Amino acid sequence: MTQTLDQPATPATPATPAAAAAGSAPVAELRALRKVYYKPDGSVMVEALRGIDVTINRGEYVAIMGASGSGKSTLMNVLGCLDRPTDGLYLLDGQDVAAMSDDDLSNYRGLKIGFIFQAFNLIPQLTIEENVATPLFYQRVPRAERIERAIETLGKVGLGDRLGHRPRELSGGQQQRVAIARALVTRPVVLMADEPTGNLDSSTGQAILNLFEELHTSGMTILMVTHDPVVAERCLRVVRLKDGLIEYDRQQPGYRGRKAASVQANLNANDAVQSPAQSH
Ligand SMILES: Nc1ncnc2c1ncn2[C@@H]1O[C@H](COP(=O)(O)OP(=O)(O)OP(=O)(O)O)[C@@H](O)[C@H]1O
Ligand SMILES: [Mg+2]
Repeated sequence: MTQTLDQPATPATPATPAAAAAGSAPVAELRALRKVYYKPDGSVMVEALRGIDVTINRGEYVAIMGASGSGKSTLMNVLGCLDRPTDGLYLLDGQDVAAMSDDDLSNYRGLKIGFIFQAFNLIPQLTIEENVATPLFYQRVPRAERIERAIETLGKVGLGDRLGHRPRELSGGQQQRVAIARALVTRPVVLMADEPTGNLDSSTGQAILNLFEELHTSGMTILMVTHDPVVAERCLRVVRLKDGLIEYDRQQPGYRGRKAASVQANLNANDAVQSPAQSH
């Protein structure tokens, strides 16, 4: 585990996320996973996940979609080790998390997962660098190094000029960047987010998605819940839930590639329209 702490945030060599995915163990593997919520009397209240089989490989950029109540947050909470499944298998970076004690699971979670909440969940009394440094405290990283790494990570998310500020002095988009920096500072193997743009207006949301795309390009595995098709459109894989089951799981071409292709198609269309006039 100490070795994991010292690893860089991104694999040293892979040139592309696909290369990063090739030949390595999956980041997350779920088999026949179920989550049942019980009433206090022990009777079944809701079967929120009814048998999920999914494998997330290194370097993937995945959106989990589905209607309200379909089980997205339940699934993300299980994936993020914030909640345990009722039964089924969950291997996180190759290790069966069901077998771990609460303390071991919480340590392992801290090493492997960077989690981003819709509502940012920053500590208002702390400066942004202290907020970002918090997870390193639990990993017993010395204070000077904690702050140094926090400042470095804030620089990566474009907030190097906001050091010393408290969360309330920042815009919503900037606060979400602080939360992303806090998720990245531990150098996790996977970034998980439940509706990370849900509290942001659309242009601020797009800026956050641009940042996710940069992180993905540099090799980070990203898994996010969204109900918004515009957000899912930018991911490379969409897993859609319906009533606690996977309705479909499909790859889609890269957003940048699609965007470039559509710009090119528009240019071609303009050429086609203009060429008769230009020929005079
Ligand atoms: N703590 C809980 N106790 C009991 N039932 C719950 C609990 N959390 C969620 N549920 C139920 O489990 C089902 C799935 O809920 P979940 O929150 O995962 O849905 P979701 O897809 O995230 O929905 P939304 O898009 O509204 O956030 C729902 O029927 C919900 O009512
Ligand atoms: Mg939800």
